[in-house]
Formats: sequence, structure tokens, C-alpha cells
Amino acid sequence: MPQNNTFKAGILGTGSFLPENKLTNKDLERMVDTSDEWIVSRTGIKERRIAPPSMTTSYMATEAAKKAIEDAKITAEDIDLIIVATVVPDMNFPSTACLVQANIGAINAAAFDIEVGCSGFIYGLSIAKQFIENGTYKYVLVIAADILSKITNWEDRNTCVLFGDGAGAAVVGQVENGYGILDNFIGADGKGGMHLYMPAGGSRMPACEESVKNKLHTIHMNGQEVFKFAVNVMNTATIEVLNRCGLKPEDVDIFIPHQANIRIIDAAMKKLKLSKEKVFINLDKYGNMSAASVAVALDEALKAGKIKNGDIILMVAFGAGLTWGSTVIKWLE
Ligand code: UT7
Repeated sequence: MPQNNTFKAGILGTGSFLPENKLTNKDLERMVDTSDEWIVSRTGIKERRIAPPSMTTSYMATEAAKKAIEDAKITAEDIDLIIVATVVPDMNFPSTACLVQANIGAINAAAFDIEVGCSGFIYGLSIAKQFIENGTYKYVLVIAADILSKITNWEDRNTCVLFGDGAGAAVVGQVENGYGILDNFIGADGKGGMHLYMPAGGSRMPACEESVKNKLHTIHMNGQEVFKFAVNVMNTATIEVLNRCGLKPEDVDIFIPHQANIRIIDAAMKKLKLSKEKVFINLDKYGNMSAASVAVALDEALKAGKIKNGDIILMVAFGAGLTWGSTVIKWLE
């Protein structure tokens, strides 16, 4: 289908969902050999939300989606496509996107999941942009939802202090030309895949007594390698997407980075010479919510009135894969 130049793809509405239960650093001190001081100084995280045992990814995704649909002033039946970015689907199949489709009654929508780790929301937006701008679809619902507490080894202090649960959603549709998602830059380096992975539960090592006993259905991470990758890619992915848009770091009004570690964000800000006031941070409250981090942060920044008409929003993420994604949006109120 020919590219339509009379409009751009843009975000029409956002929503998010966070479980109520807070797990503080003090709580973690009672669970593993750690301290509030270590966690805050090494990561910036003070507390995170943890879903109750009965809560599922599709439930959180559905709640976030309902709010985004309401915010966009459309109905579930208007939606043409649902994309859910998650690494913790309810089940291997059917997809979590199909479960959400049924939950919200989006009877006209196609639905699929993407598995891109923490870069999932930005990958989802870039897929949505293609479907909107080539005229295939009018409304695409992009949801990023992760419930990492269910795949966390609560005896591993290297990982259990980092993560939290949450979901964010955005309705992508047509906006006036000159506004909306100006460009994206997504990429992957599969060679680094084993720095952040869950060993069991797939075709390589199906679930068995031994895999459960050895806690192989949990996050395994080489933190230092991911840290090095993250600092580097936050910089390169930002420069690349800004170049594609003909913009410079100083043109950015609000920078919404993946909320993994304040030291990674500080390093990126320093390299890019971005001022602190332009950076949106909520990792102190929620920890790293994987794909949901950027989606929830965008929703919070909007609802807090931190984004005005015409503002340039820069979002950058990195994650399992290894993957990365950056996007620039010119906001249209
Ligand atoms: O979305 C992508 C997901 N992943 C990430 O973004 C992770 C990126 N990596 C990081 O954020 C950091 O590497 C971590 C926060 C995970 C770790 O920080 P670090 O400064 O790289 O610490 P380290 O791994 O070098 O460990 C330093 C020390 C070690 O002790 P020794 O060997 O020096 O005695 C660790 O055993 O800190 C110890 N340590 C802890 N101490 C208290 C590791 N975790 C903890 C903990 N509490 N929770």
C-alpha cells in the first residue's frame, strides 16, 4: 500500500496500571543479604510494586488498555490491532494480546505478542506506526506489560532488588502531519542474549523437576555486561534517532529513558549533555518494570502535565535480546 503523507502516526491516548502492594528496600533487607543504602546508591530504586499471586499479565495489560482507550476517546470495537510486549505472558500460548482482545471486547482487532524485553514498548510503537502510516489500520493498541516478580529468584540479591510489576498502554492512530512519531530506531545484538535470559521453560529446556529445583525458570543476568551495553546503547540509539529526525539533543523537551538504573540514566544524560530537568524518572517508586517502564513513565509524565503541545519527546530503552529502541514524538494535544 502506498505511504500516505497527509498524516502521521501518533499517540491518541495512554493508560497504566500498577499493583497496589509496595515492596520496599527495607522489606528486601529481611529477605536477602542487602541494604537500602546499597540498593539506592547502586540503582536509585527505593520501592517497587509487586502483583498478588493471582494477578496475571493479561489482567494488568487489560486495565492499562481500558484507560488508554478511554483517554483516546474511542471504543474497543474501533481497534484494528493489539500488540502486547511482554516477557511474562500468561501462558506460552495463546498470546496475551488475544487474552486482552477477549477481555476488552475488541472484536475487530488482530492480536499478537512481541518478546523484546524492556525495549518492547518502543518496538510496539514502531510496528504500529507502519500499519497506521501505510493506511492498513486506523487504531493500534500497544501495551507493554510485565510481571517480573513471577520469574524472579527471591534468593538472588543480584536481581531481586531490581524489578517490579506494571503495565502501560497507548492507542496509536492518525495525527496531523508534522506531529506524532517522527521516527524510530530499533535494533538487536543476539550475541549478547545470554547476558539476560530465563534458561528453562522453552524448547531448549522444557520444565522438569530439575529445572524447577535449580530455579531455572527465573531471570539470570550478568549485570555488569548489561550495564556496559546499556550505557553505550542509550547514547548511540539516541543520537541515531535524533539524526534521523534532523534534531539535536538540545531540541528534546522531555527525555523518557528505560527505568533500569539511575546510574545508566545519569551516564546517558552526561554523554548527551541533557539537563536533569528534562529527564523523567520514576524508577525510585517502581524499579525496572521491563517493557512497561517507558510506557508507564510516558503516561505519568502526560498525566502530570509535563508534556505540552509541540513538545519533542525522546524515549530510549534497552533490554533482553539484547535489544534497543529509541523514538522521537512531537506531541499533539
Ligand atoms: O532492563 C535491563 C535489565 N538489567 C539491567 O539494567 C541491569 C544493568 N546492571 C546494573 O544495573 C548493575 O550492574 C547492578 C545494579 C545489577 C549491579 O551493580 P554493580 O555496581 O554492577 O555491582 P556488581 O555486580 O559489580 O557487584 C558489586 C558488589 C558485589 O560484591 P563483591 O563481589 O564486590 O563483594 C556483589 O555481590 O555488590 C554485591 N551485590 C550486592 N550487595 C548488596 C550485588 N547485589 C547486591 C545487593 N545488595 N542487592
